Amino acid sequence: MNILLQMTARAIDEWRAELERVLPEANIATWPEAVSSPDYVLVWKPPPELFRRVRPGKAIFNLGAGVDALLALPTLPTDVPVIRLEDAGMAEQMAEYATFAVLRIYREMDVYETDQREQRWLPRPWRAKADFGVGVMGLGMLGRAIAAALVPFGFPLAGWSRERMSLPGVATFAGAAELAQFLGRSRVLVCALPSTAETRGLLERTTLGLLPPGAHVVNIARGDIVVDDDLVALLDAGHLGGATLDVFNTEPLPPDHPFWHHPRITITPHVAAVTVVADSVAQIAVKIRRIEAGEAVTGVVDRIHGY
Ligand code: NAP
Ligand code: GLV
Repeated sequence: MNILLQMTARAIDEWRAELERVLPEANIATWPEAVSSPDYVLVWKPPPELFRRVRPGKAIFNLGAGVDALLALPTLPTDVPVIRLEDAGMAEQMAEYATFAVLRIYREMDVYETDQREQRWLPRPWRAKADFGVGVMGLGMLGRAIAAALVPFGFPLAGWSRERMSLPGVATFAGAAELAQFLGRSRVLVCALPSTAETRGLLERTTLGLLPPGAHVVNIARGDIVVDDDLVALLDAGHLGGATLDVFNTEPLPPDHPFWHHPRITITPHVAAVTVVADSVAQIAVKIRRIEAGEAVTGVVDRIHGY
């Protein structure tokens, strides 16, 4: 079996070594040095010329959970299945990031950080959790892990997905018809949606305006789901209390972007969940062996829905 691996130069040796260890039966080539008709192509944000020169026989594995960049590639073959990473060590990291962000906001650590810088001793009163709804947008592999991690803290928890879902301890909402109701109870909104034709620009002036006054937006999904100018306008108008952003329309975030110096925006450099090579390769190897045995695999991307 032939595999072609494309990855950033920084990480390619680690991926290759792990693939060789876990799939000793495979011939592994790396882009761009060796190109042919591999059975499997493993890629992360590949250049368009890759699929002009390479014709994958059986499947394309996306070395991440989000497939927006790959699906946007005009050269991507339409007749070969695209398979994405499912959790593969990312769900735990997303749950940690989101839990930290929610607790930081609920316990007003952001306020105390400012108070310390300005040498202000100002204890703030206890807040009832009943008034502090947390909403998770997207209840897939990552959103479900975030919701499950938050359940024990006792916030009124809500989740929103395309199809209706049932989750213990979470009030669930589905589709455009229930979006306003979901947003209206989300004092903290955690976005874990994929970037698709339906979700790009979804969090704009009107939808963000449906969040309760003082709400905080945590975006750990994709930058293009949020309209930057609308977010800043609602923060400046005082309707939103803050935002914690891990993902951006342009990455790295340009030096002149207003997010950098906004007093109520916290930024991290797309690290909410990083790819864990060992877990990812183990998952891909299981799927390759299943495909070779003629069995079905999960994580096949629906090209119509875009995730
Ligand atoms: P997933 O398993 O495919 O789950 C996607 C969820 O979003 C599903 O619950 C789906 O609803 C929901 N959804 C999709 N379109 C929707 C729509 N139009 N309206 C309402 N709900 C919709 O994806 P995942 O593995 O959890 O990953 C989610 C995203 O996280 C990735 O696409 C990626 O962009 C991002 N991510 C970010 C980082 C980071 O470090 N910041 C790391 C990894 C991934 P249904 O359940 O009804 O299908
Ligand atoms: C990272 O952002 C991923 O989609 O895996």
